[in-house]
Amino acid sequence: MTTTLFTPATLGKLQLKNRIVMAPMTRSRATSNVPNGLMAKYYSERASAGLIITEGTSPSPNGLGYARIPGMFSDAQVQGWRLVNDAVHQAGGKIFVQLMHTGRVSHTANLPVGSRVLAPSALVAPGEMWTDSSGQQPHSVPAAMTEADIAHTIAEYATACKRAIEAGFDGVELHGANGYMIDQFLNTASNQRNDQWGGNVDNRIRFAVQVAKAATAAIGADRIGMRISPYGVFNGMTPDAEMDAMYERLIAELNSIGLVYIHIVDHSSMGAPEVSPALKAKIRATFKGQYILSGGYDVARANTDLDTKRGDLVAFGRPFISNPDLVQKLQSGTELTAPDMSTFYTPGEKGYTDY
Ligand SMILES: Cc1cc2nc3c(=O)[nH]c(=O)nc-3n(C[C@H](O)[C@H](O)[C@H](O)COP(=O)(O)O)c2cc1C
Repeated sequence: MTTTLFTPATLGKLQLKNRIVMAPMTRSRATSNVPNGLMAKYYSERASAGLIITEGTSPSPNGLGYARIPGMFSDAQVQGWRLVNDAVHQAGGKIFVQLMHTGRVSHTANLPVGSRVLAPSALVAPGEMWTDSSGQQPHSVPAAMTEADIAHTIAEYATACKRAIEAGFDGVELHGANGYMIDQFLNTASNQRNDQWGGNVDNRIRFAVQVAKAATAAIGADRIGMRISPYGVFNGMTPDAEMDAMYERLIAELNSIGLVYIHIVDHSSMGAPEVSPALKAKIRATFKGQYILSGGYDVARANTDLDTKRGDLVAFGRPFISNPDLVQKLQSGTELTAPDMSTFYTPGEKGYTDY
């Protein structure tokens, strides 16, 4: 078996000590949407990863759709994240924040007073979500964004990028996957606009491209990656006939903007349809930056995919939840502890910092 996974890599100006990425995972421990010391402990215990990507973090009060997820727009949030980043850096790690605007995957009970559930179109996301005040609830009906709402939201991403750097992050991952705001613009199941932000492929990728450009203008492309999930079905996303063509156009644009990485989600290990190997290969060939693979990886499959140049880095999600020393365990071939799903999103230390 080869050991490529454990060799160093370069990401923009950063040197990563190995090719193992901790995948972004929402853990809902940010009481009042502000990061805290408990989160600093959790992330710093996992600093042996070559790169940590944080849980989805909202650039806007309007994007805090889930209970207890953190934000990146207030002074208190920047201070809270500084605790996390100082602890991770002290432990020798590198860390990007994932900017996730939940859009229509939201409930008004989870949002701060005065915030709005926004989406490309007024189409409610299927299914229910947890609220701390009234338990499981159907998603709230979103308001279709006006031109002014769209411009404001793009500007919020740019400001959040600046605040992320102020908070000590090494970079930012734009969450363009899994049915959240950027994906809501990409997908015809949630975007039925007939203006310049909807309809054909060029219009549907416009929001993603404009966010990437605004983020780049704010902090530089060598500190920005994007996560995408072609063929994903989470949060009501529905593949259509133009899926391959759309991602080919999007990736060409992101390549010319010069983003530092593309992070591809393949949730076939969690029951989603497989991303066609042809599209993955096409994206890989078009995009000149780094390419992060994710979804159901173990060491053997990671090394095979790295050695055959299908990607440059490999993200591990669930194994990091229950194995803070995952890198060491993977390297030594030690058996992994299984995660307890019942504490994925519950408040407090249990199932978080007690593995
Ligand atoms: C508890 C949990 C929370 C997650 N939250 C996020 C998130 O905030 N952002 C995101 O892009 N993906 C999220 N994911 C998906 C993971 O990043 C990853 O793609 C998925 O777990 C598959 O990788 P794995 O098989 O290594 O676990 C989450 C997954 C889990 C299990």
